Amino acid sequence: MSLFVAQDLVKRFGGLVATDQVSLSVGPGEVHALIGPNGAGKSTLVNLISGLLPADGGSIMLDGVELTTMSAHDRVRHGLSRCFQITSVFRGDSVLDNLLLAVQAHSGSSFRCLGRRSAEGGLRERAQELAHKVGLEDRLDRVAGTLPHGVQRKLDVALALAARPKLLLLDEPMAGMGPEDSQQMVELIARLRSEAAILLIEHDMDAVFQLADRISVLDYGKVLASGDTTYIREHPEVQAVYLGVEEVR
Ligand SMILES: Nc1ncnc2c1ncn2[C@@H]1O[C@H](COP(=O)(O)OP(=O)(O)OP(=O)(O)O)[C@@H](O)[C@H]1O
Ligand SMILES: [Mg+2]
Repeated sequence: MSLFVAQDLVKRFGGLVATDQVSLSVGPGEVHALIGPNGAGKSTLVNLISGLLPADGGSIMLDGVELTTMSAHDRVRHGLSRCFQITSVFRGDSVLDNLLLAVQAHSGSSFRCLGRRSAEGGLRERAQELAHKVGLEDRLDRVAGTLPHGVQRKLDVALALAARPKLLLLDEPMAGMGPEDSQQMVELIARLRSEAAILLIEHDMDAVFQLADRISVLDYGKVLASGDTTYIREHPEVQAVYLGVEEVR
């Protein structure tokens, strides 16, 4: 059974159909990659799923709950988190403070019944656990904005994990990274699949083919093909519109 199902999603910008009847599902523990040329509609689709943009048609279900008309904030509460193409890190704050803020924002009532001391301890413990998940436990005191780009992206992932997502949306997590940082991010995403299903948008095809269980290819707002890595690699139309050509950005 699918954890996440988007059905017949539509988004129009004036006369342009940026998302054209897109259906997509993600199973528990699955990494589903979304690829396609520039302007194919990948970010628009992620914005529809996360609730940043209202859809003009279609539906979105996560774990049996219909999210289609919910606010972005409510979708996060129901288990849908995203990392942004532009990082959401507070650059002037320490890594620990960034994590504490995120943990506090998502803790709801879980620490409220404890005294103030133990509540603070609980938040701190959870923040440290998140730092550990992304390999930032040694940098808790560093000012986030002074960290290298690749490390800030890891913090961004940890902030998204603070909400304990069932589905994590990653929009170009390797953007602007060199090969070493990209490989570290691939390893991090591979570890995350045990905690959340992942919808991954990425132009780095080495990363996509290493990580994805399934790949959907968007072209002009439509799903051109969807299947496992072998199917996509050998798909003639996909080769023609995307894999065959050198990426121009
Ligand atoms: N807010 C908007 N208003 C009008 N047109 C838009 C808007 N956002 C996106 N578009 C158009 O919708 C189409 C899909 O854009 P989108 O950003 O979703 O593509 P993408 O696949 O994410 O591209 P990229 O690989 O460059 O990130 C493009 O033609 C784009 O110009
Ligand atoms: Mg995009």
